[in-house]
Amino acid sequence: MAISATLFFLAKSYNINLGILKITMANFRENIRKMSQYKPPLEGRASKDYLLLDFNERTTGPSPKVKEALKKFIDSGKLQVYPEYGDLEAEIAKYTGVKTTQVMATNGGDQGIDIICRAYLNEGDKVIIPFPGFAMHYQSAGIQGAEILGPTYHKEDGAFPLEETLDLLSEEVKLIILCNPNNPLGSSIQIADVEKILKKAKEKEIAVLHDEAYFEFSGITAKDFIPDYDNLYIMRTFAKAFGLVSIRAGYIISQEANNQELLKIRGPYDINMFAKTAVLAALEDIKYMEDFVQEVMKNSKPKLEKFLKEQGIFFYPSAANFLLLRFPNPQEVMRGLKSKGILVRLKSTPDDKKAIRVSIGILKDTERFIDGLTEVLNKVK
Ligand SMILES: Cc1ncc(COP(=O)(O)O)c(C=O)c1O
Repeated sequence: MAISATLFFLAKSYNINLGILKITMANFRENIRKMSQYKPPLEGRASKDYLLLDFNERTTGPSPKVKEALKKFIDSGKLQVYPEYGDLEAEIAKYTGVKTTQVMATNGGDQGIDIICRAYLNEGDKVIIPFPGFAMHYQSAGIQGAEILGPTYHKEDGAFPLEETLDLLSEEVKLIILCNPNNPLGSSIQIADVEKILKKAKEKEIAVLHDEAYFEFSGITAKDFIPDYDNLYIMRTFAKAFGLVSIRAGYIISQEANNQELLKIRGPYDINMFAKTAVLAALEDIKYMEDFVQEVMKNSKPKLEKFLKEQGIFFYPSAANFLLLRFPNPQEVMRGLKSKGILVRLKSTPDDKKAIRVSIGILKDTERFIDGLTEVLNKVK
């Protein structure tokens, strides 16, 4: 009797038709009901011995200092205490070369993107996200119910559509997201062009989110514009070059007054103590990160590019630690690579076809990828 009363109450609250178990969830916002979950293909990838070139992660672990610091934190007997951040933002600011007040730590780069979308976008507002773009830009803007305007990157070479983007900047637009370098293309926006956008956006009171997830690899940053542009937000992450992706740590750089507003949205404990501990330890060993970046960008990536050119395989010019490769039969190539123990990812090109995005690890990983791809191409030709 009690169980059926509870079921009836739940059914009534959530508008569930118990007869046919049809769940309509009438009170959900319509744009959420229309959305899909973002479900990256994660299942089973970490448990087998694959070469993981599918999520733009490091192929080697973070600094040993991170592991040591995390063990120490576990042994400190403070797991039951709410997080306290101390000098976390001061240390990030030191690394970044901005003022402490211009940094706001986040739970991964994704949380930074989400907070900016929540701060600027109401239902029906317009947001510019050049296509193709990073999935979480679309997801966070979609949750707000914003209308997404998507100028398309140039089909032939993946170049940024500057004129089309500038033309779209009108009073109706509330936010523009610039992914620099772009994920999945890898192509970059010249910093002078970023300033052109910032200037026009400021005149029209539009916020600009400059996603610098791959900053350590590309060296491209808009941070010098922070003092002059109160409409600028930079998103960065410790996930990629520092290798702290499982720990979820990122940050926003913006003017102090902006960060004070954003802190009303970010929760007081959103960054957990494992992230704080790991970030501080990683920042004590910047050389470890730089050595990896050096190997990827100076040795590994040029080797892969040379091989691809020799094979006549098209790739978009990339400023990041990944390349987007075009094949007539990308699914088949991806399956072939998986059978050789190498994971890559299918991603969209500007002409909305599928291509293979491959992350670049250390030289040894690139050599294994080249061998694997050679065998696959010999088979599928
Ligand atoms: C362009 C871009 N922005 C943001 C992120 C999010 O980084 P995080 O893993 O720190 O949430 C990623 C991760 O893949 C990315 O590629």
